Amino acid sequence: MTRYQHVLRHLENHRYQWLITGVAGFIGSNLLEVLLRLNQKVTGLDNFSTGHHHNLEQVKELVGEKAWLNFSFIEGDICQLEVCSNACRDVDFILHEAALGSVPRSIQDPIRTNESNISGFLNMLVASRDANVKRFIYAASSSTYGDHPALPKVESVIGRPLSPYAVTKYVNELYADVFARCYGMDSIGLRYFNVFGPRQDPRGAYAAVIPQWVSALIGNRILYINGDGETSRDFCFIENVIQANLLAALTENPQAVNQVYNVAIGERTSLNQLYEAMRALLLDKFPRLRDHKPTYVDFRKGDVRHSLADISKASKMLGFEPTHQIDEGLKQAMEWYIEHSPSEKEKIDASA
Ligand SMILES: NC(=O)c1ccc[n+]([C@@H]2O[C@H](COP(=O)([O-])OP(=O)(O)OC[C@H]3O[C@@H](n4cnc5c(N)ncnc54)[C@H](O)[C@@H]3O)[C@@H](O)[C@H]2O)c1
Repeated sequence: MTRYQHVLRHLENHRYQWLITGVAGFIGSNLLEVLLRLNQKVTGLDNFSTGHHHNLEQVKELVGEKAWLNFSFIEGDICQLEVCSNACRDVDFILHEAALGSVPRSIQDPIRTNESNISGFLNMLVASRDANVKRFIYAASSSTYGDHPALPKVESVIGRPLSPYAVTKYVNELYADVFARCYGMDSIGLRYFNVFGPRQDPRGAYAAVIPQWVSALIGNRILYINGDGETSRDFCFIENVIQANLLAALTENPQAVNQVYNVAIGERTSLNQLYEAMRALLLDKFPRLRDHKPTYVDFRKGDVRHSLADISKASKMLGFEPTHQIDEGLKQAMEWYIEHSPSEKEKIDASA
């Protein structure tokens, strides 16, 4: 039995109270879905700055009314300590996902990014400490590797941050580390690489590449590739991220706590390869994509050229074993986007 299977079995037999911040967002709502399916009790906190009511409604539909009764939602902002303290009451484990993502957003508006990602994070740490939670698991980021050229990325070797967003995510790690030393708090930081999957928002100027491209491909709009397309990323399907969170929350290895871990699959895919893989997966349903060509534009400020994770630390210390490689993840994600794009579905039905 893998460590993850063991953890899932444990959760089937033990009920905990979880707090997920950023629960109406992409990663938060996927964590919520899995925990409710495992009959856990969950409190969710979100201010809907980038998250959506429809994500929560979809989870409700997927898990059913009965499991949904185990969920309570607080609409509020982590920038207010009182909101955080209220949300942390009687909680065993915190999965802290709330933050303003996106490198370009942080370049555009560093102050707002700083408020949610640093002040909000500090509030959550203080509230967790005061509520004596068992463990605080937080979303760190691969952006912390900054300008360091080494590949693959190992947790102990980082460069200078390339964006305000990267600064905030690094500061999170520093604060979590200091809270372990000053207050004996247990935390684990998960440096997510490019995560993708159902419910990732395709809309807006700051959408991540995969949802943005699916939306362009199925909506028959121009698809932009920043730079020459040879920029590469370690794309990580959401299921692997869920696994990392549950392993981190429940690890009994004392050496594994108060550490940061890469969360990825340890494989590099260029944007050109990603584009071809996505187009191929959509061809059956959208034959017009046979002649589709991307439009290449300038490189984006603050982007690192290549990103590839060494996941051996998470594997050794937490028992992390990615279950979904990029192809499998993309297939599931594409199916979800097609299903949740009603206008497109109507168009397919009409042309059939
Ligand atoms: N998606 C990725 O590829 C990726 C990569 C690295 C790190 N991360 C981190 O993972 C976490 C989740 O990212 P996501 O992709 O699900 O983003 P998301 O935007 O879908 O979710 C973030 C959620 O946090 C909420 N939020 C933001 N500021 C808040 C505040 N001040 N108070 C309360 N709620 C607030 C938003 O409304 C949203 O629902 C973030 O911390 C992000 O920085 C994501």
